[in-house]
Amino acid sequence: MAFRPLPRALNSALSGAHPVTRSFLGQRAGLATAVPPVTQDATSSNGPTAMVFMNMGGPSTTDEVEAFLSRLFADGDLIPLGRLQPYLGPLISKRRTPKIQKQYAEIGGGSPIRKWSEYQCTEMCKLLDKINPESAPHKPYVAFRYADPLTEEMYTKLLDDGFGRGRGGRAVAFTQYPQYSCSTTGSSLNELWKWRNRLEGKRANGDMDPTGTVQWSVIDRWPTHPGLVEAFAKNIEAQLATYPEEKRSSAVLLFSAHSLPMSVVNRGDPYPAEVAATVHAVMQRLNFSNPYRLCWQSQVGPSAWLGAQTSDTVQEYVKRGHTDIVLVPIAFTSDHIETLYELDLEVMEDAGHLPGVKRAESMNGNPVFIEALADIAKTHLRKDEKCSMQMTLRCQGCRSERCLEQKKFFAGEQGASLVL
Ligand code: FES
Repeated sequence: MAFRPLPRALNSALSGAHPVTRSFLGQRAGLATAVPPVTQDATSSNGPTAMVFMNMGGPSTTDEVEAFLSRLFADGDLIPLGRLQPYLGPLISKRRTPKIQKQYAEIGGGSPIRKWSEYQCTEMCKLLDKINPESAPHKPYVAFRYADPLTEEMYTKLLDDGFGRGRGGRAVAFTQYPQYSCSTTGSSLNELWKWRNRLEGKRANGDMDPTGTVQWSVIDRWPTHPGLVEAFAKNIEAQLATYPEEKRSSAVLLFSAHSLPMSVVNRGDPYPAEVAATVHAVMQRLNFSNPYRLCWQSQVGPSAWLGAQTSDTVQEYVKRGHTDIVLVPIAFTSDHIETLYELDLEVMEDAGHLPGVKRAESMNGNPVFIEALADIAKTHLRKDEKCSMQMTLRCQGCRSERCLEQKKFFAGEQGASLVL
């Protein structure tokens, strides 16, 4: 899918004139002395602020697939394999590598998730510098759970850039999973907490929070933010507009999200409810213009996963005569293998390549989406909260010490007592 930058008009309106350009214009206007460059809204700023986008990541080349899969199957938060995880994880990842390499080769040789994440984060930071100068400059970072740049790499860069190590500084961990799951955002936070402790934790005197460490806060979910809802609705409307008018309102909207093992769902994971909340908010914005369903994709292995499966749903509806279907990836913020391969190639093939079965575009470089990210971040920075209240409540079935300690850490001094 083609890289789509912000429209030029919006871009220039948002970024303003470059200091060098202003200086140059000043000289042209005949000023005797050069105008000093205007630096980043820094005079009244509490910045810099590090904005860290957390996501699962994906291999940028087929050579990175094996390492990506081995990290993925080693993560008990994402794929719980119990005590056999250290043995089964490497076996499964090794066996799956050639097949997954082929899939990445078919979508152009790698996942575009790094390109999109870096672009979205950079553009959001530019916007934030304008709409929230109090915390400017905002510096973009990306931390992936299973691919480069890994959390460790991001944290090291953060320290090298002047945060922490006795110098303090504020950083925001901004999940790029709009709907919270302990297997996605929770896993990324567990990893961030681990590396924070390794790189900045205990000093020789045993102090877990020595002065001058990075001060973290977390944007942990945003399933119904109006900007996110608007961006989804606009992409759906654009796809619906491609159908002949008489068919437009009867096309089925099939929202598709990554599935979860039923063991995670039954533990009390909030993800299914939050995904359903996004779907409902988008449908409300569309005035419930079309029939719709939510279904789930990307199951692996023989254990029970949350259904109905996306591919089965499409095939069943097509059999019944619903030949106009718009697939809507509702839990991803950019294209990756689950959209470009699974939906665009596999599901379309299963549906017999019917011309009426289409997919709404992913968020990628969508300016409405990037404005929404900036608005979410601005609200968070102004509220000065450590995380949402909802993050302080553990799943009913959670027995993980790591979850407990991680949540206490991110909830901060005041919130830690809420985490039980
Ligand atoms: Fe959900 Fe631990 S598994 S809080």
